[in-house]
Amino acid sequence: MQTVLSMRNICKSYYIGTGELKVLKNVNLSIEKGDFLSILGPSGSGKSTLMNIIGCLDTPTSGEYILSGRNILNMDEFELALVRNREIGFIFQNFCILPRLTALQNVELPLIYSGMPFSERKIKAMEILERVGLSDKMHNLPNQLSGGQQQRVAIARAMITNPSVLLADEPTGALDQKTGDQIVSLFEQLNRDGITIVMITHDCNIAVRARRIIHILDGIVSEQELKPFVS
Ligand SMILES: Nc1ncnc2c1ncn2[C@@H]1O[C@H](COP(=O)(O)OP(=O)(O)O)[C@@H](O)[C@H]1O
Ligand SMILES: [Mg+2]
Repeated sequence: MQTVLSMRNICKSYYIGTGELKVLKNVNLSIEKGDFLSILGPSGSGKSTLMNIIGCLDTPTSGEYILSGRNILNMDEFELALVRNREIGFIFQNFCILPRLTALQNVELPLIYSGMPFSERKIKAMEILERVGLSDKMHNLPNQLSGGQQQRVAIARAMITNPSVLLADEPTGALDQKTGDQIVSLFEQLNRDGITIVMITHDCNIAVRARRIIHILDGIVSEQELKPFVS
C-alpha cells in the first residue's frame, strides 16, 4: 500500500486574547492511496481545522505531517502553496465555481495556470466532465445548472490536475437529501476507480458511505472501519 499522508501527534491551538484554545489534540491519522474516509463530528469539534491542515491551508502547532513523502512542517508559504496545488483537490459546501465561466471553462481553469495548451486542456476537461455525468451541460453557465450539477463541476475541477487526494468539506451541506445522495454516489464511483477521497461531514448518513469513519469530538479523533480496504 502507498501512503498518501500521515499525521502523528498533530496538535493545533488558536491563541485568543490571553488564552490558548486547544482545538486538535494529538491527532494520528494515516491515509492510503485509494482510501475513502469521512471525518464525522458535530459543529465546533475541529473538522475544518483538521481539513485546513490536511489541505496545507494552515500548519499545526506541533506534531508531524507527511504528505506524499514530504514533511510539511518547516515549509514556508510558497512551498505550502506548491504542495497544495499539486496534491490536493478542494471541494467546498458552496461549490465555489466562477459564475461568468461555463462548466467547461471552470473545469479547465486549473490547467491554464499549469500552462497546458488550449486543445489538450479542452479535451481533458471534456473527459472529466463526462466522468461526473455532465457532458450535455458543459457550455452552461453555473446559473443554468442545478446545485447538484454545480457541485459536479466543482468535483471535475478538483480532479483535473490529478491530485493525490480529493478533500471535500461538507460537500452535501447545501444540497437537498436526494441530490446529496447522488453526489456521494459519485464519490463512491470515483473511489472504485481509484481516487482517494476525504469527506468532512456532520451527517451520519453521509459518513457511513465511506470505507472508514474518523470520528472527531472536541479535537480528539477515533476511528471506525466500515468496509475492508483492499488496494
Ligand atoms: N481562526 C480561529 N481562531 C480562533 N478560534 C478558532 C478559529 N477557527 C476555529 N476556531 C475554534 O476552534 C473550534 C473548532 O472549529 P472548527 O474546526 O471550525 O470546527 P467544525 O468545522 O467542526 O465546526 C471552535 O471552537 C472554533 O470556534
Ligand atoms: Mg467546519
